[in-house]
Amino acid sequence: MRLDKFLAEASVGRRKIVRTYIKEGMVKVNRQVITEPAAEINESSDVIEYLGKVVAYAGKVYYMFNKPAGYITARTDIVNKTVFDFFDDFKMNGVFHVGRLDKDTEGLLLLTNDGEFEHKLMCPQKHVEKTYFFWALGSLDKEDRKKLEQGIYIGKDEILTKPAKIKVHKYGMYKEFKNEMPMKNLKNIDSNYYNQPVVSGYLTITEGRKHQVKRMLKAVGCYVVYLKRVSIGGLMLDESLEKGQYRFLTEVEFQKLFEGL
Ligand code: URA
Repeated sequence: MRLDKFLAEASVGRRKIVRTYIKEGMVKVNRQVITEPAAEINESSDVIEYLGKVVAYAGKVYYMFNKPAGYITARTDIVNKTVFDFFDDFKMNGVFHVGRLDKDTEGLLLLTNDGEFEHKLMCPQKHVEKTYFFWALGSLDKEDRKKLEQGIYIGKDEILTKPAKIKVHKYGMYKEFKNEMPMKNLKNIDSNYYNQPVVSGYLTITEGRKHQVKRMLKAVGCYVVYLKRVSIGGLMLDESLEKGQYRFLTEVEFQKLFEGL
């Protein structure tokens, strides 16, 4: 295995960072300083040291995390709480989030130390489906649903969105659903929403543009008040995970992610 790959998988740091460590002479293989990131090592017999400490091989890790609202998807932030606040710092060296969810979005977020895995899931050519459950103010008629399915303009100088899938779950007046609609995002809008139409549903997209689901729904007159990612590829969020909890992916779940790719 390559030395830089070994160190990244042993959670010393991301691949790019460990290359710098190696080039700067911080890494020894069998007591000898090696400055070539591509050097081949044997992970079961060679002794690798980083800054004088032997590095144990951890292998690749894949976490499923149920993100709560109120946390940003970043390693650190001077103002906001981040998803890494839920993880033990040392254990997460070299681990990063796969894609992003908005601060107010909940649900399925994957974390890993495997760069190839991230690339495979995020690369636009792979068209990995991501499904979001939403509640929105507004209604979605047949014409709106067709636009969402076929592609829609969501921003100046942006191309049409790729074909998406939309499934309406519930619709009616706000007063009928007020007990099941999470209302945190409603404070800035018209207070007279008692008789407003509301809609919930599932939108499945294959891209990852900024605020994409919110912007797609806005383009058909719907204002998202709640958003949760429920699946990526064939992998569903384990609903038994409380918000803020995480666990390793099982082998079967790992396979499910790439079903049909
Ligand atoms: N689309 C959004 O609008 N927000 C998210 O967090 C994810 C997808």
